Amino acid sequence: MSQAREDRRPGGALRAADVSRSFEGVHAVQGVSLTLHRHEVIGLIGPNGAGKSTLVNLLTGFDLPSSGTVELDGRDVTRWSASRRGRHGLARTFQHSHAFRSLTVRENVEVAALGVGASPATARRRADELLDLVALADHADAPAGALAHGVERRLGVARALATEPTFVLMDEPAAGLPEAEVPEFAAVVRSVRDDHGAGVLLIDHNMALIMDVCERIHVLDHGRTLAEGTPTEIRANLDVSAAYLGESAVHEGLS
Ligand SMILES: Nc1ncnc2c1ncn2[C@@H]1O[C@H](COP(=O)(O)OP(=O)(O)OP(=O)(O)O)[C@@H](O)[C@H]1O
Ligand SMILES: [Mg+2]
Repeated sequence: MSQAREDRRPGGALRAADVSRSFEGVHAVQGVSLTLHRHEVIGLIGPNGAGKSTLVNLLTGFDLPSSGTVELDGRDVTRWSASRRGRHGLARTFQHSHAFRSLTVRENVEVAALGVGASPATARRRADELLDLVALADHADAPAGALAHGVERRLGVARALATEPTFVLMDEPAAGLPEAEVPEFAAVVRSVRDDHGAGVLLIDHNMALIMDVCERIHVLDHGRTLAEGTPTEIRANLDVSAAYLGESAVHEGLS
């Protein structure tokens, strides 16, 4: 077991404290604080351009905040690289494809496992288990580049889980999934929490999915925290409803 893994404390948390990020005058994230504990699923929602992906980038080290700090299990990791955070239990999926297109689906997952020190045999076993979990076993030998967009996102989930994360941040993993497959995906998210004890942050525009699997929901609008609370509280929050009135994609489940 690596030093990094031994360092992981049970019951830890991933925390953003008053983080901001601006892009040439665009305040993408403004003074947002958010805590994700292990053994929980939280939702991060908001209209297009609200700052959700930017916040995930700041939490995972793919971008640096203009101000504020990020803590992982009590340590200030604000300046840590994404790969270093990855070795300390942080994983993410991407809104846009990051798969190695010419590798097979299975190889993509194996590479992720190898990247955190798994042996080739373990990487292979883990890849097959995870492809089963995300219902991609039938595609294991296909090149990742051949996958349809929605299917490719499930590969992103398998790749994130292959690192055996303590925290996994999923950026619209269910986008493009046929409605009939959403409950199956919700079961995957619950399994990551219940069977692996991880903390999950889930971004999605499908409010029915968010309301179904999340214990707490954090709402962003124009880079700021608009509301946070339980699904029941968020549903009742008129400000949230108002922020969404123009967003047909998110109406479902909120009304
Ligand atoms: N690298 C960048 N350079 C310039 N502006 C950016 C950059 N990344 C994000 N932005 C801007 O920051 C704001 C927040 O974008 P972000 O992608 O975080 O939103 P989002 O909530 O993830 O939206 P969506 O639901 O469409 O994925 C937007 O105005 C976006 O145009
Ligand atoms: Mg986004």
